[in-house]
Amino acid sequence: MDMGLNNKTALVTGSTKGIGKAIAIELAKEGVNVLINGRNYEEVERIVNEIKTEFPATSPQNATADIVDIQQREALFKKSPTIDILVNSMGIYEIMQFEDIEDEVWEKYFRTNVLAANGLSKFYLPKMLKNNYGRIIFIASEEAIMPSGQMPQYCMTKSMLLSLSKSLSKLTIGKEVTVNTIIPGPTLSENVHQIIDGIYPNEDLTFSEKEKDFMSKNLPQSEIQRFIKPMEIGRLTTFVCSPYATAFKGSPIRMDGGMVPTIF
Ligand SMILES: NC(=O)c1ccc[n+]([C@@H]2O[C@H](COP(=O)([O-])OP(=O)(O)OC[C@H]3O[C@@H](n4cnc5c(N)ncnc54)[C@H](OP(=O)(O)O)[C@@H]3O)[C@@H](O)[C@H]2O)c1
Repeated sequence: MDMGLNNKTALVTGSTKGIGKAIAIELAKEGVNVLINGRNYEEVERIVNEIKTEFPATSPQNATADIVDIQQREALFKKSPTIDILVNSMGIYEIMQFEDIEDEVWEKYFRTNVLAANGLSKFYLPKMLKNNYGRIIFIASEEAIMPSGQMPQYCMTKSMLLSLSKSLSKLTIGKEVTVNTIIPGPTLSENVHQIIDGIYPNEDLTFSEKEKDFMSKNLPQSEIQRFIKPMEIGRLTTFVCSPYATAFKGSPIRMDGGMVPTIF
């Protein structure tokens, strides 16, 4: 299906790895010129070249920046003042005990997972409204609506994104601009792959055997009993970016493998 995105420009934050990278690839597949972001210039350049080789009709660009840092964000705005699509995928997560989480850690999570995405949205949304076209997508997590208790500092930030997304959506009334949140469940990023391999050092087991055992013991709520593939989140994000998805306004869009047991 042609998603009607050819020649659009998209900034995907945290796109050198995992979900962000998969989103960038799926957008490039649709002819989108993607701005690849991460903190390491060489790593970003490597992904830009990978995408350019695979999708030569597109013009991927290097958008290296630590987007938590206000000055680096501003340098990025100077370099790329207008975009059609902003995907706020960058986020940090870590299992932590509530008693061990100092105020500085709560603040770090807020700055990294909320303020960075907010700062980018604050810059790009008015331009999208002026052009009467644009898409902003926040990547949250099933932990936003179903906190497991294992990472309260992370869940807080992901719940906040749902609220922020709806508030921004209220500014888009009557416009061809949408702001939505995608809620992935457990997804097989490189990080998650390494964590599973670390839990099962036995090399005789295939990854899918490890995954099956891990899912049944740790994530029995999952109805797919496997990790979601980053490409699946990428494909969904691409659809939400498309002109066919204009009626999604401030929506929390779940692709959680059935993790959340409720209807809404
Ligand atoms: N994986 C899951 O199971 C899962 C499930 C639900 C939701 N999510 C959410 O999905 C998003 C992506 O997760 P993931 O697991 O795919 O992440 P990941 O593999 O850890 O990738 C993180 C990306 O962000 C970049 N990055 C980190 N800090 C940055 C900063 N300050 N400025 C710019 N780039 C930065 C990293 O590159 P550098 O380190 O080189 O900068 C990398 O490209 C996150 O928001 C996460 O909360 C993940």
